[in-house]
Amino acid sequence: MTTMPPTFRAYVAEKVGDRVERGVRTFAAADLPAGEVEIRVAWSSVNYKDGLATRADGKVARISPLIPGIDLAGEVVASADRSIAPGTAVLAHGYELGVSRHGGYSEYQRVPAGWVVPLVAGLSPREAMAIGTAGFTAAMSVVALEDRGLQPDSGPVLVTGASGGVGGTALAILAERGYEVWAATGKEDEVTRLRQLGASGILGRDEVTAQGRPLESERWAGAVDAVGGATLPYVLRTLQTGAAVAASGNAGGARLETTVFPFILRGVALLGMDSVTVPIGRRRQLWDRLATDLRPRELGVHVTEVGLDELDDALDGIVAGSARGRWLVRVGG
Ligand SMILES: NC(=O)c1ccc[n+]([C@@H]2O[C@H](COP(=O)([O-])OP(=O)(O)OC[C@H]3O[C@@H](n4cnc5c(N)ncnc54)[C@H](OP(=O)(O)O)[C@@H]3O)[C@@H](O)[C@H]2O)c1
Repeated sequence: MTTMPPTFRAYVAEKVGDRVERGVRTFAAADLPAGEVEIRVAWSSVNYKDGLATRADGKVARISPLIPGIDLAGEVVASADRSIAPGTAVLAHGYELGVSRHGGYSEYQRVPAGWVVPLVAGLSPREAMAIGTAGFTAAMSVVALEDRGLQPDSGPVLVTGASGGVGGTALAILAERGYEVWAATGKEDEVTRLRQLGASGILGRDEVTAQGRPLESERWAGAVDAVGGATLPYVLRTLQTGAAVAASGNAGGARLETTVFPFILRGVALLGMDSVTVPIGRRRQLWDRLATDLRPRELGVHVTEVGLDELDDALDGIVAGSARGRWLVRVGG
């Protein structure tokens, strides 16, 4: 274990006029915000929000310069909180990380103790970031659907944006729990991988973004949607009576144009997912479950590893919708 050095490497995004300048810089420990826990970051990941945080039109970054990275995992090197000892493997994500406070694309980071999740045995820092914020949101979505009564024998469950982080992890969790999962994707060349992850059937993006009648045949016992746009209305009008969709994202657009009929004639529910504000106690519980009964199938396999110097392409790629599984960022791992 090493203590935090006076300077280290970090990937920084800085607004300069109308542009955002991005790249690896030497960063000073003295310029990190205050916090009780200092972490040597081993791994971070690339989430859709990270892509937005490094774009001038992204409307995500709240400070400049910003070290992006909305999640991180590594080892505690110093702690002013007695419940989190140096040497502990931990992760942190959510709250202000990588948005209004420096995030995970940094060899060292300082965070409030109340944001820290100690890693349970059975989940390495690399595996934790292979799940990352996207996978945590997928797990939240599965739990929300099950809390409302969804079970493996309820019927087929639809996952949209299945080649991406939230979608792919939701597919892998649901398949491992014995559900019949259908994957909607815009990428034909991902079909084999999605079947490998556990998809029983595949829908093309055309089908789930087409205009339709206010109500169509009742098909899905539940759904996980991180796409929004034209896809969420399709999901709502094809859910079975009493079923729910857990909605977390807008990769396909932020506008929602639907009718009230799925709600008032079929008792369908739209469950909003917000991973950012989940209280720390609940967050730690859910991470414990991600190591055990919510552990995604083939965890850590469907990843592309990049270093800090290779982040530009990954950040642009995720916003362009080219995700194929998760991008892992090797910070010091
Ligand atoms: N609410 C929360 O707490 C929370 C947490 C995490 C993420 N999110 C949100 O969830 C969404 C997904 O995040 P992610 O990290 O999983 O992103 P991602 O890895 O890029 O996955 C998004 C997937 O959506 C699909 N997609 C469908 N239409 C698209 C379009 N027009 N443009 C781009 N992609 C399209 C693509 O999959 P296919 O090609 O397979 O269709 C893409 O791979 C984002 O909006 C993100 O901000 C929210």
